[in-house]
Amino acid sequence: MEKSGLQVLKEQLQRRSPQENLPLMRSHSTSGIVLLSDKELDKMRRVGRIAAELLKHLEPMVQPGISTQALNDEAERWTLAHGATSAQLGYAPPGHPPFPSSICTSVNDVICHGIPSRQQILKAGDIVNIDVTPVLEGYHGDTSKTFLVGSPSPVAQKLVQVTQECMLRGIAEIKPGARIGDIGAAIQEYAEAHGFSVVRDFVGHGVGKQFHTEPSVPHFGKRGRGLRLRAGMVFTVEPMLNEGTYDFKILGDRWTVVTKDSKLSAQFEHTVAVTPSGVEILTL
Ligand code: MF3
Ligand code: CO
Ligand code: CO
Repeated sequence: MEKSGLQVLKEQLQRRSPQENLPLMRSHSTSGIVLLSDKELDKMRRVGRIAAELLKHLEPMVQPGISTQALNDEAERWTLAHGATSAQLGYAPPGHPPFPSSICTSVNDVICHGIPSRQQILKAGDIVNIDVTPVLEGYHGDTSKTFLVGSPSPVAQKLVQVTQECMLRGIAEIKPGARIGDIGAAIQEYAEAHGFSVVRDFVGHGVGKQFHTEPSVPHFGKRGRGLRLRAGMVFTVEPMLNEGTYDFKILGDRWTVVTKDSKLSAQFEHTVAVTPSGVEILTL
């Protein structure tokens, strides 16, 4: 039987020696990429845990009949109650209007950056990605998961399962000396073997004090190519897989990204750190 990505990752995590939390160098930059110090990694662990707990907290609310706005409002309340803020609310990179909500809710054919709304009521058979990014002590924890509402179609369930597996397989490639292309290759191989396409235009990213920074982490590519990974790098792995073509359109709100063919899209995301012996998922 084929090993699951989770199994591969678990075996890798078991191989980590207990003394691997060697002090890393202070935060500094080589070719624009920040390496985080141990002290900063502890902050990333704390905000990463908050991000993971927020998704866990929202999970039971994801039921037919709830509006995506209600999910947003509870996420905002819970985030503030835990001493954090949402990086997404008001986020305005160049060329975008400020994002109006605290989380992204991307339903069915929405690839990413869906905006919660009172009018949007989840129904049985939907799939919905919830993407959260709390900020605590100045550091960002970025994670997302696609939830099943009721019992979606077999192809929808398969897309969601394969997407999660892709994320884990990508993460399992990470260790000092590996290349950024190894991550994308592992994801693309598994996605395409199952007949799904990998979105090209939205990628993982460095994350820490800044929400989006270098390096960019494509979810497709070739092994042995691209940036060499080093301990202390922190970035996201967040593949988006489509049922049909990876081509997309952006709606008039200038945020919502949808599939061009209106077929389904799913996404999973973790924030990870490269450690001296491999990888640590900060948003578990
Ligand atoms: N959290 C998303 C990511 O994974 C970014 C959302 S930006 C927003 O990178 F403005 F749409 F919220
Ligand atoms: Co995210
Ligand atoms: Co991200």
